[in-house]
Amino acid sequence: MVSRVIPVEAFDLVIFGATGDLARRKILPGLYRRFCDGQMPQDACIIGAARTEQDSAAWIAQTVEAIESYLPASKRDANTMAAFCERLRYVAVDAMGDAGWAALAQMMRPDVVQAFYFSVAPSLFGALAERLHHFNIARQDARIVVEKPFGRDRETARALNATLAAHFNETQIYRIDHYLGKETVQNLMAVRFGNTLFEPLWNAQYVDHVQITVAEEVGVGGRGAYYDKSGAMRDMVQNHLMQLLCLTAMEPPARFEPDAVRDEKLKVIRALEPVAQKQIVRGQYQAGSNPSYLADVENPGSRTESFIAMKLMIANWRWNGTPFYLRTGKRMKARKSEIVIHFKTPPHSIFDADAGRMANVLSIRLQPDEGIDLRVTIKEPGPGGMRLIDVPLDMSFAEALGPEAADVPDAYERLIMDVIRGNQTLFMRGDEVEAAWAWTDPIIAAWEAQGARPLPYAAGSTGPEEAAIMMHQDGRRWQDI
Ligand code: BG6
Repeated sequence: MVSRVIPVEAFDLVIFGATGDLARRKILPGLYRRFCDGQMPQDACIIGAARTEQDSAAWIAQTVEAIESYLPASKRDANTMAAFCERLRYVAVDAMGDAGWAALAQMMRPDVVQAFYFSVAPSLFGALAERLHHFNIARQDARIVVEKPFGRDRETARALNATLAAHFNETQIYRIDHYLGKETVQNLMAVRFGNTLFEPLWNAQYVDHVQITVAEEVGVGGRGAYYDKSGAMRDMVQNHLMQLLCLTAMEPPARFEPDAVRDEKLKVIRALEPVAQKQIVRGQYQAGSNPSYLADVENPGSRTESFIAMKLMIANWRWNGTPFYLRTGKRMKARKSEIVIHFKTPPHSIFDADAGRMANVLSIRLQPDEGIDLRVTIKEPGPGGMRLIDVPLDMSFAEALGPEAADVPDAYERLIMDVIRGNQTLFMRGDEVEAAWAWTDPIIAAWEAQGARPLPYAAGSTGPEEAAIMMHQDGRRWQDI
């Protein structure tokens, strides 16, 4: 199966923070991959901007080195790399001063799509936005891309929104949540709204509960200073898990268009019930073969969580009474992200009690091994009478669609191309982010007031025992990790 690659229009993309970690790890390798796939037009121009005084040749050499360290050799070749490098320029700019801005203005072309990626600390957003206007660089139709963390509570998110709004319209602002760029996340919408089969059953009458898991094997080593001020709630739940929850629970939008989709997501966030503390388990990983959380963040008294499990209820007609269980953590048993819909058992069984009784389960696997799996009940083959078993109707993308399907664009690649195309569907709107914080803030405030320590869990485990107990008390169990 060969996928269709539609080239985007010519563009100037300025990456502020061009020497930083995100640019090196994700943005530049992603752009290179789009270039290899023929999606980037020949006259695209990528301008690296950062404080470091250096010439284009030096930055290009660093970029090549970054791409080589983040992309396997099979995904690159010298000729394409040379052609890609011709698209790159560098300019040293001072975000807080005047230096470099006139030079940047000179590099920009008047007649191509204009995008500015703010891959910098949020405290610099205002200064960059101001200077882009003061030096007459940003046009009315310019797009800006901003990254998380988008605030650390509702107030700071509001202030950031106001800072950006002073210079750009909402239609120009692309707030990235890279989970929305993941292939299977979009497939969730295709499965829900492209089939007749699921949507009629997608409600409290037929769904017993939903589980959303994002488990990581890695710890926080290297990012300790940032992470210890955030914790799993701010780093993962408020954004990534919340977005997955919204796409799973939202009403069908009238069209797959930015505001239609974002309106529906916002309604879900606003319908979330406040969460009682007993519906939340917070954990912190202990030392295993690697250091403990406390050692990783070099803060022996830290009360920040590296794991969280919680039960959410959505107060609307569709979901009344159906819990959504969310779980995420670092240093867990395996890397696994999935959304699992547990349907109810059939209301009545026509078979003997010892035949068994099973429920359908639909799993949407984000990573690794992206795919969709539906467990259905059949008769156990053989002469043993009517005994029921459940078997998977498994669609691993790699198996069903050929190896190329496994080679899907990374979330960042897709999202950057969407910026160039001017499609905001997979980006968060300002009111969505504020609403997510409004729901998160009281939960965090309650922890801070209590000053409770997170529960310990063994590195390489599935989290604290209490998370399993919370499920058990509801007569359910977590999916295996
Ligand atoms: C980031 C978080 O947003 O997402 C990290 O800050 C986390 O802590 C990462 O590791 C997970 O992303 P992915 O794509 O590897 O699942």
